Amino acid sequence: MTGDRIIIFDTTLRDGEQSPGCSMNTSEKMEVARALVDLGVDVIEAGFPVASPGDFEAVSCIAERFGDRSTICALSRSREEDVRRAGEAIKAAEKRRIHVFLATSAIHREFKLRMDKAQIIQRAVESVKLAREYCEDVEFSPEDAVRTELDFLCEVVEKTIAAGATTVNIPDTVGYATPSHYNKVIRHLREHVPNIDSAVISAHCHDDLGLAVANSLAAVEAGARQVECTINGLGERAGNAALEEIVMAIRTRSDYFGVHTGINTRKLFPTSHLVSSITGMKVQRNKAIVGQNAFAHEAGIHQHGVLQERSTYEIMKPEDVGYAGDNLVLGKHSGRAAFRDRIVQLGFELDDAALNQAFEDFILLADKKKEVYDSDITALIENRLGDHTERWELSRFHTSAGTGMIPTATVELKCDGKHVKSDASTGDGPIDAVFRAMERIMDLEARLDDFDVRSVSGGKDAQGEVRVSITVTGKQYHGKGVSTDIIEAAALAYLKALNRADVNR
Ligand code: KIV
Ligand code: ZN
Repeated sequence: MTGDRIIIFDTTLRDGEQSPGCSMNTSEKMEVARALVDLGVDVIEAGFPVASPGDFEAVSCIAERFGDRSTICALSRSREEDVRRAGEAIKAAEKRRIHVFLATSAIHREFKLRMDKAQIIQRAVESVKLAREYCEDVEFSPEDAVRTELDFLCEVVEKTIAAGATTVNIPDTVGYATPSHYNKVIRHLREHVPNIDSAVISAHCHDDLGLAVANSLAAVEAGARQVECTINGLGERAGNAALEEIVMAIRTRSDYFGVHTGINTRKLFPTSHLVSSITGMKVQRNKAIVGQNAFAHEAGIHQHGVLQERSTYEIMKPEDVGYAGDNLVLGKHSGRAAFRDRIVQLGFELDDAALNQAFEDFILLADKKKEVYDSDITALIENRLGDHTERWELSRFHTSAGTGMIPTATVELKCDGKHVKSDASTGDGPIDAVFRAMERIMDLEARLDDFDVRSVSGGKDAQGEVRVSITVTGKQYHGKGVSTDIIEAAALAYLKALNRADVNR
């Protein structure tokens, strides 16, 4: 099926969440799903329901809440139990899809599945037929399609379409393809699979060679009409194709591609920020479309050109991707109404309780800091995301450190909103002492893998943002904290990460 509308299939909540340290809880997934729906994503792959009860719950909640606005998709291996769990998880969604996959390449057949070609076809066909009992919209993916013999790939695609697949996805599972190679694979399918016009061809590219976006666009040129991607290119290993790059390439070069998407591009920047904040995965400064420097012109000659005529050096307008710069916002005398307006402009949708909390945080900050910027407000709101689901809360702490002294910290945490527990520890520095005291209180042992500090805006009184990544019993967790006091920011970040680990023990 071809046409000029490209279906955007977002898999941030499934393939993206598989990145080490990027796991999200149900309330965080709901937050991301809401942003994806507002962005105008056509299909949201919400998770892999058979993987765990938590995954099942998240997919069901997303299906129930958002299944009338975007298609909610659940991933399933080609196994009866998986397909049934996927079907159950999405049943509340008005628009729903099951995505069944089975590896087809010789390497996977021989070493992973130990199945021959006939068995693969039989299993794939049976699974697609079973999925069709749960919904009319069924996608089939021959995993590692790019390394599959072309004749066999054609046969699998033909048979799964005949069995009822409405979308056939051609994954470059290991990021091995190049643009012209991938383009040829898609063209070959269009030319050699007799029933190909009964299904949508989809591209799914990984970025191991840095070619995921280029490959996806090459597939569009060859006739693919669905692209699978993630916000910020999150995903296994080097990640998946970045949604924001694909969408803006298609839009900016519509003269060349002659196709369009239904994405509200003004929501790209806020969505990228939200996903980065929730997953703890930083966006590199010079990242295309959503990096801090994506629209910064440093060279004098460029600045001069842009001042005369923007299009001399700008192929996209910053406002078209929702980048509004870092405006000086409000002072402590700004009222609640002005604050609420600004929050809406920044792309947040807060209920009354969250708005009140954000306003209280803002007033406290405005007391400490002369000038409050958009980035400060965003940081305050993101700092509170998921708070209500966390068991442990920081009540207070005290540190003592200095030249020739042994750094010590006393920490008090509140558990389940009531029990107060405190403990003290020494450490290599005051921050380390706080971390150790928290671990003692929560009875958790963590290894600090990464510690990152940055200032949220300019100026000596700027808020500091700390991101940490820790490992607890072999699993990675992340956390982010913001405060004008860097030790407090570190404590909040560490506690967020420990809270995540606490849920999983
Ligand atoms: O990369 C891949 O092959 C996948 C499949 C499950 C579609 O993510
Ligand atoms: Zn993938």
